[in-house]
Amino acid sequence: MNRSTSIGYWLAAEAEGRGLMTAAVRMLVDHAFREWGLHRVVIEVVADDARSRAIPERLGFREEAVLREAKLLRGRYEDAILYAMLAPDWPWSPGREATGSE
Ligand SMILES: CC(C)(COP(=O)(O)OP(=O)(O)OC[C@H]1O[C@@H](n2cnc3c(N)ncnc32)[C@H](O)[C@@H]1OP(=O)(O)O)[C@@H](O)C(=O)NCCC(=O)NCCS
Repeated sequence: MNRSTSIGYWLAAEAEGRGLMTAAVRMLVDHAFREWGLHRVVIEVVADDARSRAIPERLGFREEAVLREAKLLRGRYEDAILYAMLAPDWPWSPGREATGSE
């Protein structure tokens, strides 16, 4: 109804550290904007999970809010960070590398 969607991710341990999740999320966001014509994509990440947070940050998402004790992990409520990208701000086009340097 709001032309908005969310993405969550969890990668098998043996596949970490090769840039796979950044590439996968970039493709999904691109699909959401270009193919589905959505306006907003959000990602919620546990606040103290630096590797998970690096993904929306590398892709240029904006940090919008702290969601207090929003995630129940291993029996503990953890704060989460809400990141969002709007279609007019999406900087990536097919074939361009997500280096985070632009
Ligand atoms: C967080 C998680 C998704 C990261 O997956 P990933 O594929 O390693 O992440 P990225 O795509 O960002 O890859 C970046 C890493 O690949 C490395 N890399 C290697 N080749 C690369 C390339 N060609 N391009 C980009 N990065 C590359 C980077 O140096 C970086 O390494 P680092 O994380 O040690 O700094 C994954 O570790 C995961 O699912 N973890 C468990 C999730 C979890 O605990 N969640 C808690 C609740 S949210």
